[in-house]
Amino acid sequence: EKGGFDHFMLKEIYEQPNAISDTFRGRMLPEKGIIRMAGVDNNIERISNAKRIIIVACGTSWHAGLVAEYIFEELARIPVEVEYASEFRYRNPIISEKDVVIAISQSGETADTMAAIQLAREKGAFVFGVCNVVGSSISRETHAGAYTHAGPEIGVASTKAFTTQITVLTLMALKLAKHMGTISNSDFQMHLQELERIPDKVQKALNSDEHIRKIADIYKDATNCLYLGRGFNFPVALEGALKLKEISYIHAEGYPAAEMKHGPIALIDEQMPVVVIATRKGYYEKVVSNIQEIKSRKGKIIAIVTDGDTEVRELADHVIEVPETMESMSPLLTTIPLQLLSYHIAVMLGKNVDQPRNLAKSVTVE
Ligand code: F6R
Repeated sequence: EKGGFDHFMLKEIYEQPNAISDTFRGRMLPEKGIIRMAGVDNNIERISNAKRIIIVACGTSWHAGLVAEYIFEELARIPVEVEYASEFRYRNPIISEKDVVIAISQSGETADTMAAIQLAREKGAFVFGVCNVVGSSISRETHAGAYTHAGPEIGVASTKAFTTQITVLTLMALKLAKHMGTISNSDFQMHLQELERIPDKVQKALNSDEHIRKIADIYKDATNCLYLGRGFNFPVALEGALKLKEISYIHAEGYPAAEMKHGPIALIDEQMPVVVIATRKGYYEKVVSNIQEIKSRKGKIIAIVTDGDTEVRELADHVIEVPETMESMSPLLTTIPLQLLSYHIAVMLGKNVDQPRNLAKSVTVE
């Protein structure tokens, strides 16, 4: 049932090229220049007239929401807020009929996310669900939605659900942008073409597995780890840190790279591995200077870079390459090495990768 893999998590990491293409297949029609998503098509006016979009979710799904914030704001120019469902529901939030709430949940059963949806509905918002489990409670409680087609995710640490959530939300943002005229036809077409190439590029990112395993072996005994990224890759830094925490029990924190100097830089010494997402687009030069700051404090740098990068290679202790892509799609690639890094560290430490202590696959209590 694990298809020859030692763990479900590793199988699910490797399923991502297919899971992503299953998620866009049939929805993306580049030759017609359209994206078809029934849940969006049937409510296109309601959604595109939204004064703002509020995304509610927990955990990894919340990280996908943060990536979506950057994507929606860039492509569709609709203001987006991303909220932890648990905070949103207890805050007496200001919501009106002009708001669209997007709830993201792999399981479709998360109690806090469910309660946030009910609250948003009571206040008259239109609620759109992005779930993986078909027929789940959240998919039934929402006005409309779009499924991720990741297939069953068994490993407690979410992997392919995350990348397929980003895929669905990218499609949705592109579709809205096209409808609202905030994207040119040629730019829209370029995005579709690039999204079609992503599964192959994810496959290429997976080819670094053995190299990543060697890096894991060097850092497996670390007690702390910092993850840094900017822009679209800031949420990826958060997600990388969460993956390491939950399966290897190593304390890790994700930060926007520029925030480092406002506190976390005090933690850096020669014992501290720092994983930095430094792909060529996305404030590259700024990230390079953040890397220099770490280096001058003797932190160990593991950098995720674009294929062929030379500048960061000179500064970093280790580099892991991912293929070049558009900035908005880079999280789909930069996430892959971070998943593999935490997987290998957890395996080397003898942890129960698929069922980490204290965690359950779906959190049906608040
Ligand atoms: C992390 C993880 C959790 C879930 C969170 C939300 O790897 O699995 O953080 O992402 O519990 O779950 P869903 O998406 O099912 O609502």
